[in-house]
This record gives sequence, C-alpha cells and structure tokens, in this order.
Amino acid sequence: MRFSQSICGLTLAYAASAAAGDAATKPSIILIMSDDQDRRLGSTDFQSVLHREIYSQGVEFINHFATTAQCCPSRASFLRGQAAHNTNVTNVHAPGGNYDKWHQAGLDEDYLPHWLKKAGYRAEYVGKFLNGYNVVNANITPKGWDHVDALLDPYTTYYNVPVMSQNGERPVYYKGFHSTDVVRTKALNRLQSLVTQDEPYYLQIAPYAPHVQNDVHRTVPLARHMDLFPEAKAPRTPNYNPDDEHHRIGGWPGTLPLMNQSTMDTADGAFRARAQALQGLDEIIEDVIAMLDANGKLDSTYVIYTSDNGYHIGQHRLPGGKALFYGEDTNLPFGVRGPGVPKNVTSQIPGVHLDLVPTFLDIAGLPKADWPTFLDGQSLLPQWKDPAGSSAGLNAGDGNSKETLNIEFWGSCTIEAPNGAELGAPFVNTTYKTLRMLGDRQSWLFSVWCTGEMELYDTAADPYEVTNLAGTPEHETVLNRLNALLLVTKSCAEGTCRDPWSVFTPPGGNGTDGEKITTMQQAMDSKHDAYFASFPRVHFASCMQYQDIANEAPLYPESAASPKGLGQGARRPTGNFVTTDAGVAIADAEFYGTVEQRHATLEQVYAQARNLTDEELAASAAPKKGKGKGGDGGTAEKRWGVQEVPEWIRLGHD
Ligand SMILES: *[C@@H]1O[C@H](CO)[C@@H](O)[C@H](O)[C@H]1NC(C)=O
Ligand SMILES: *[C@@H]1O[C@H](CO)[C@@H](O)[C@H](O)[C@H]1NC(C)=O
Ligand SMILES: *[C@@H]1O[C@H](CO)[C@@H](O)[C@H](O)[C@H]1NC(C)=O
Ligand SMILES: *[C@@H]1O[C@H](CO)[C@@H](O)[C@H](O)[C@H]1NC(C)=O
Ligand SMILES: *[C@@H]1O[C@H](CO)[C@@H](O)[C@H](O)[C@H]1NC(C)=O
Ligand SMILES: *[C@@H]1O[C@H](CO)[C@@H](O)[C@H](O)[C@H]1NC(C)=O
Repeated sequence: MRFSQSICGLTLAYAASAAAGDAATKPSIILIMSDDQDRRLGSTDFQSVLHREIYSQGVEFINHFATTAQCCPSRASFLRGQAAHNTNVTNVHAPGGNYDKWHQAGLDEDYLPHWLKKAGYRAEYVGKFLNGYNVVNANITPKGWDHVDALLDPYTTYYNVPVMSQNGERPVYYKGFHSTDVVRTKALNRLQSLVTQDEPYYLQIAPYAPHVQNDVHRTVPLARHMDLFPEAKAPRTPNYNPDDEHHRIGGWPGTLPLMNQSTMDTADGAFRARAQALQGLDEIIEDVIAMLDANGKLDSTYVIYTSDNGYHIGQHRLPGGKALFYGEDTNLPFGVRGPGVPKNVTSQIPGVHLDLVPTFLDIAGLPKADWPTFLDGQSLLPQWKDPAGSSAGLNAGDGNSKETLNIEFWGSCTIEAPNGAELGAPFVNTTYKTLRMLGDRQSWLFSVWCTGEMELYDTAADPYEVTNLAGTPEHETVLNRLNALLLVTKSCAEGTCRDPWSVFTPPGGNGTDGEKITTMQQAMDSKHDAYFASFPRVHFASCMQYQDIANEAPLYPESAASPKGLGQGARRPTGNFVTTDAGVAIADAEFYGTVEQRHATLEQVYAQARNLTDEELAASAAPKKGKGKGGDGGTAEKRWGVQEVPEWIRLGHD
C-alpha cells in the first residue's frame, strides 16, 4: 500500500513537472472579438491601432468568413468547432437557440476551454458570451473557464448600464461606466495576473461594440469618442440601395422598398456611431499589446482580432443588420500576430471561424488523440505561418486551402434601424442554405431560400453580388454543380465539411468509377453534366424557425439523416427546452466613457458598483409579455416551458 502510494506520488510529481516544463514553452493566445463588425464596409479603416499593432505586425486574412452571420449561432459554432447545423444553435432566441439551449443540449460540457485545459492552458473569458445568458440564469455558469466574467442580458444591449456576473455569482451593476471600459479594465486586470504565471493561457475579450443598442437604436460609443469622424458615411457600394433593375434578389430583402433620404441619413449616423465605438476596441488592442510588451511576452503570444459576424448598412436596400449570406454579413475582419507569423502580410487564404478551434488546439500542442472527433474545421496554423507560401492559392486541391464555405441561417431576422418594424421586421421566412465558393477560377455565391427562391452570383465578375444569375440557361451547368455541393455542405460533418467533393463519385462512363473530383474546375468538365444534373434540388418543405430534418430533406449523403447525424451523436436533444426571459429593471440615460475614464483602474470601476437587488432580479424574472428580445419573448415562454428561478431569488438571500 505504502509502496504503491509512493510510486504513485513519484509518478504524479514527474508528470506535473513534465507538464509544467512543456507548458512554459507553449504560446499563449488572446482573442479579441468585436460584435457585428463588417470588413466590407471599411470599418477597420477607422482602427489605426488594429492596423499598427496587428495587421502590420502580422497577417490580415481578407477571406475569413462566419458560417452563420448572427451572434449566438456564430459564437456557439466557433466555441464548439461545429457548423450550426451540427450544434443546432441556430438563432439568438428560442426555438433556434440561446444560452439555455447551448446548456441544455450539453454543448457546454465539451468545448474549447475544456480542451485547452487538457493541453495545460488556463482559459479565461471576459465580455459578451452567448445571447440569453442573463440576470435570471446567470447562476448557470458558463462551463470550462477558470475565470469567466460575462455581460448579462438584457443589459448587454445598454452600453451605459453594464451588468456582469463573475463565475456565476450574483449580477453586479457597474454604475457610472460604459460597458466597453468595464470589459477593457477587467480584461487587463486578468491579463496582468496571467502574464506573471508560468502556465500558458487563453484569454478571450469580447466587448459588445459596435453592436446596435436595444435592437434598433444606433450604437452608443464611449463619450470620449462621440465627436469623431463627423464626415463618415456608409460607403455607397454598387449594391447600396440599388434601383429595381439591380434589386432582383429573393427572400424578404427582395421585398424592400428603396431607402429614402431620411432612412439613408439615419443609416449614415449608425455607420458613424459604429466607427466611433470601434475606438474602444482599438484601446483594448493598444492596452493588451502594451501590457504584453511591458512583461516581455509580446513575441510569445498570439493576438487575434476578429468579430462574430459582419454587417450591412444600405446594401440591397437593407438599412442595417446582419444574418444574410452576402459578403457584407459574412466576411470578417481577421488579423493575427504571434510566434512564427510573418509581419505585414495580406493573405487571400480562406478561413472560417470553424477553423479556429483546430488552430488553437494545434498551437496548444494537444495530442490529436485528445481532440474531439466532431470538429468540422481544420487548423490554419500552417497558413498563419506561411500566408504567402505554397498553400496560399485560393484553389483547393492542394489539400491546404479551402474552396467551399457553407453558410446557413434559420429563424426570424430583423432590420436594425428605427423604421425596421415599418418595413415589416421581424421577418419570419428567412431560413436559407448557401454555398460560397472561393476559387482562383471559380468564384460563386449560391443560395436557396426556404421559399424556394434561388440566388446565384459570379463573385469574381460581380463582387457586390448584384446580378442574380439563378434561372438563366447559360448558368445551368454551374448551378447543377453548386446545388450538388450544397446538398452535401448543408448537412456535412467533419471530413465532408473539410472536403465535400470527396462524397462524389461520378461514373467513368464505361461501368467503372471515374476519377475523383477535388475542385470545381474539374467538376465543370462537360463529361460530368449528366451526373451533376441528376441530384435533387436543395429545398425546404416549408419555412420553419428551426432545423427540422424532415423539412430539409433530402440530406446527402443519406447518413447525415441517421440518428447520430447533424451532430446529434454529440449533444442532447432539446425538443422542448426551457428558455429564460429577462426584463429590464435599471435605466440610466447618462453617457459614460469620459476622457478621465480612459485609464480607470479596477478599483474605480468598482467604486459605484453594486449587486442587483432582490427587487431588480424579481422584476427581471417576470418581464412583461411581449417585451422579450427579438419579438419572441411572450410566445417563447408559453411554447418552450416555464422559467427557471435562480437560487438567490427563490431563497431570498443576497
Ligand atoms: C422614409 O421611409 C420611412 C419608411 O421606411 C418612413 O417612415 C418615412 O416617413 C419616410 N420619410 C420620408 C421623408 O419620406
Ligand atoms: C507594410 O507594407 C506596406 C506595403 O506593402 C508598406 O507600405 C508599409 O510601410 C509596411 N509597414 C510596415 C510596418 O512594415
Ligand atoms: C474505362 O475506365 C478506366 C478506369 O477508369 C479507364 O482507365 C479507361 O480509359 C476507360 N475507358 C474508356 C473507353 O473510357
Ligand atoms: C412564409 O412561408 C410560408 C410557406 O413556407 C407561407 O405559407 C407564409 O405565408 C409565409 N409568411 C410570410 C409572412 O411571408
Ligand atoms: C433543433 O432544435 C429544435 C428546437 O429545440 C428541435 O425541435 C429540433 O429537433 C432540433 N434538430 C435537430 C436536428 O437536432
Ligand atoms: C455582492 O454581494 C456579495 C455577497 O454579499 C458581496 O461579497 C459582494 O461584495 C457584493 N458585490 C458588490 C459589488 O457590492
């Protein structure tokens, strides 16, 4: 007994020191994620620090995309490394998804922070987590993090009423501060302790900016930035507020009228407020870089800047918002600096958020045997280190770069402008399946709406996606290929997401299997015309607000519809999940984020901070019907069950 104990002790001591020795050489990772930031409207032009400290000191990837262009599904997909059709977190509120669904599906038991910890990392999170993590369910702590300090709904959307929960504790209201300053100060405080430890770490900093305030109102920047860029306007891109001839698109955007002058003026104001709010992101970058530098850790840390999804202002007559498949909504700012990453490079190599988990696990050196099997992306670390090298071509087929991106969305969608409701928002028939192909020679955007309408753009000739080619006879052969590919990508998993072409085996014409296809260019060979024309069209039985297998049939290959398909083997069913609604009990009309607060200490941030009172929590837990976010509050509650009441309300203690 004694003997085996001491052996055991020795073994443990040895293992621990080996892990620590190993860990000391591992690079740390800081991910700064903004909320709803476009790349295509030039928002990053207003971020001189992003350019100076990240793009110039590393690589800007101009073809990085979100696979679902909305906060909650995009973040859930990123954190799990799985397409939204596999997480089934497909919208910001029930029934598609929210924090409750993420938790009740058990997705939180197996995702990024757990895997990083296996690799010897500390994992910390500060800022907005998933929509629907709120003052009522705050006690259901986001799992896996060694420290998590999250903004809580419904206050997330009120910049000057920041309410956060630290590790699931009672919500605290940081009175007198703007949320971007609170997130920055808290993140820096954590970073200060992380840089002095030996353990490598992952720190995610996720402020709410430059998201709109309260669904439709313009972003509220820090007070010290409110007068900047008085001339800034939404860019008049070729797809900005197009006339009838250039507005032949499907779905609900196809029904929108031309924006009038007052709508355009309001949209320009929204654009300006976003540019101002992004100064708060630049301050985060500036302070993070300075702190790493001051501690001698700048060269051993990966610093990544991106957003959860993109944004449109005026394109296709849409005054403001996201959740569409067009370039504005899906193409993201993306920059990285760090060990082995060359400086001042702009790269065309495509990437998606699904690739970030594999990249981080690659950096962390987690043995492949310990990786989850369900990841849909691939590590981009080789491309980060060699962004202009042999793997830099856009065309797939060299095994290193990605040609086809799957983009998808389900459920209601809004217009983020004060006149959104007048224009018909929220829209319900908004579900679609989309394929974006990024090739040197074949470059397409193909989309099928749940209403059956199709859109096809040649994005090399028509980068603003204005001329819809769907239904034209001369594009039938292209459309047949893209349709077949979309049939695969819309329900792909793991290998079939990384290489959807692998599913196809066109006959050779003499009774044997023909050659394997690895690129669109090969697929376009006319000898494959009949084969690709033989696939059923991607379609929906009807427009539903969530992912329903029968509604989206057929799936291809058919195994995708098996009981373990669509990620079902790695999550619990959520058929009738309980959703938690939370109402507003605190308001403050002041603007915070003054010049004096630029370098506020944590102590100052806490000076007027206080716990939410029992009355405020009780009021939040019983929101007025119809006051829920996304226009779904009242009905969601009836449909999906009763609300959970956290312990501190039930027991009435503080
Ligand atoms: C502009 O359009 C909106 C509806 O989208 C309407 O509310 C507003 O009155 C219009 N303004 C003018 C000046 O016509
Ligand atoms: C980065 O490259 C651009 C052009 O390629 C050049 O003008 C600029 O000076 C470079 N910046 C740095 C910091 O090296
Ligand atoms: C028949 O298929 C085989 C194997 O793919 C190929 O080598 C051969 O050239 C084909 N013959 C004809 C007549 O197409
Ligand atoms: C949505 O689509 C369904 C068909 O799937 C149709 O019956 C319904 O009228 C549409 N609703 C709206 C508001 O367009
Ligand atoms: C997705 O979620 C909805 C709502 O919880 C559920 O009804 C549906 O069965 C789920 N779909 C899959 C494929 O898991
Ligand atoms: C909130 O309440 C807890 C428990 O009473 C207390 O320890 C903490 O200091 C309070 N926080 C604030 C900011 O007042």
